[in-house]
Amino acid sequence: MIGIVGGTHILEIEVLSEVEEVEVATPYGRAEVDVGTIDGINVALIQRHGKKKNKPPHKINHAANFYALKKLGANYIIGMGSVGSLRDDITLPAIIIPDDYIDFFSGVTIYSDSLTHITPGFDDDVRGVLIKVAKKLSKFPVIDRGVYFQTRGPRLETRAEIAMIKNFADCVGMTAGSEATIAKELNLKYAAICTMDNYAHGIKEERIDYREIVKKAGENARMCLEIVGEAVKVIWDDFYTGSEGSDP
Ligand code: HPA
Repeated sequence: MIGIVGGTHILEIEVLSEVEEVEVATPYGRAEVDVGTIDGINVALIQRHGKKKNKPPHKINHAANFYALKKLGANYIIGMGSVGSLRDDITLPAIIIPDDYIDFFSGVTIYSDSLTHITPGFDDDVRGVLIKVAKKLSKFPVIDRGVYFQTRGPRLETRAEIAMIKNFADCVGMTAGSEATIAKELNLKYAAICTMDNYAHGIKEERIDYREIVKKAGENARMCLEIVGEAVKVIWDDFYTGSEGSDP
C-alpha cells in the first residue's frame, strides 16, 4: 500500500480506480480514507481538507490521517500541495520538491505525553523518486530542492510576513511541514510535491486572492497528478519487494 495525501488539487479529480471509502479509527480520531488502485497498485488516499471541503489547514487532524495510512499498511507517502513562490526569478507554474521546511507555528506532534524528539525532514527516497519522475514528465520547470515555509493559515500572509520569510525559504504553504513532522514521528517515509501556483503576497506587484490561487492550482493539478501516478509505480517497483504484489 502506498499513501497519497492531497489538497486543493484533487478535490475535484478522481485519482483512484476501484475505490472504497473507509473510515479508520485511530488513537487521535477518525480519518476518512479512499482505498483503491493506480495501475493495479494499492493506494490509500486522504483528502486533507475533507471530502466536504470543511477542514481548513489549522483544523486538519494530521495525526489521525497519518496513523490511518500506517494502519492500512502505507509506509511510503506522497503529499501533494499548492504553494506560493517566494522567489520572483521562477516562471510560474512550476513544480517544487522541497528538501527542508520551517514550521514554527503549528506545534503538531503525537508526542504530547512523552519526551520524544524526532529529527525532522522530508524522506530522501520519496524525494528522489518525485524528482526523477517530475524531471521526466513535467511540462513545467522542476525545482528539485528548496525550503517550504509553513504558515498557520487559513488566511494568506501579509506583505511584511512575506518580505521577512522570503529571506529564508523558497515557497510558502500551510500543510507540508506538519505532515512531514507527523510522518517522521510515526516512522513513515514522506515527501511533498507542490505546484507553485502564485507569487506570494508582495513578491510581484499583482494582488493575490485565494479564489484565484485555487483556480490556478486546479489548472496545474493534472500535471502534478500525472507525476504522482507515475511516482507510485516507481516507488512500488523500487521499494516494495513483495514479488506477488504483497506489501512489505
Ligand atoms: N500562501 C500560503 N499558502 C499558499 C499560497 C500562498 O501564497 N499559495 C498556495 N498555497
